[in-house]
Amino acid sequence: MTADVTFSPVRLGVNIDHVATIRNARGGGHPDPLRAAHAAIRAGADGITAHLREDRRHISDNDIERLKNEISLPLNLEMAATEEMLAIALRHRPEACCLVPEKREELTTEGGLDVAGGHNHLKPYIVALKEAGIQVSLFIDPDDGQVAASWLAEASVVELHTGSYCEAVLRGSQEDAEREYQRLRHTANLAAHSGLTVHAGHGLDYETAVAVAAIPVVQELNIGHFLVGEALFEGLEGVIKRMRSAVEKARKTCGEELKTS
Ligand code: PXP
Repeated sequence: MTADVTFSPVRLGVNIDHVATIRNARGGGHPDPLRAAHAAIRAGADGITAHLREDRRHISDNDIERLKNEISLPLNLEMAATEEMLAIALRHRPEACCLVPEKREELTTEGGLDVAGGHNHLKPYIVALKEAGIQVSLFIDPDDGQVAASWLAEASVVELHTGSYCEAVLRGSQEDAEREYQRLRHTANLAAHSGLTVHAGHGLDYETAVAVAAIPVVQELNIGHFLVGEALFEGLEGVIKRMRSAVEKARKTCGEELKTS
């Protein structure tokens, strides 16, 4: 396995899509994703993430405009590589765009982008966004070929899909969870050695976020569903603070282990 190469604090991006999901269940404006973004800021989040889907099932165009205009934290816009989304990104100029695969019938983003198979399709979007000064990340499965293709496509960041790892943990299958975790760790290190910045996300909860934060080259976690779900019981600010301190602690512990090894 490749060795871990760097140690830096881990950034926490809070995904507010599912505040909009609840709002849209009734129409109207409550609960407001902007209010959630303000709570995330107070709780110490490093960025706000929102996915503008083709079917607008949660976040709306107006939410993106308000987030960009009214929020002081960097905005990470998750979007499909389409002409419509590119035009929206170029109009609002979020600090970052994460290109994701999108199928209308899926409940959530079920797998990573096939960058290896779709290199020619993705590259013009990556170039156009980068030329506008937007950091571009590609949401990929933890796979060596996808990392190599992301590097060739000139992305600066890859976000590793942690869904398979999180599902294995939830199933209670220790063997699968360990295999998926090592796959994540290996791919994260490979990406970092290739000069790519490494982010991770999807399906993370306290336990799995702590484990992923302990991979020193992972620089950012993007977490949504769990935080919004837990907020029903514990309140959004409290949950984000708890997540923030859990991932920081995991990162400090692995940093100290690195220094003494
Ligand atoms: N990262 C990406 C690229 C995603 O598409 C999603 C889901 O929208 C997340 C992170 C957050 O996943 P979850 O809501 O399961 O925490």
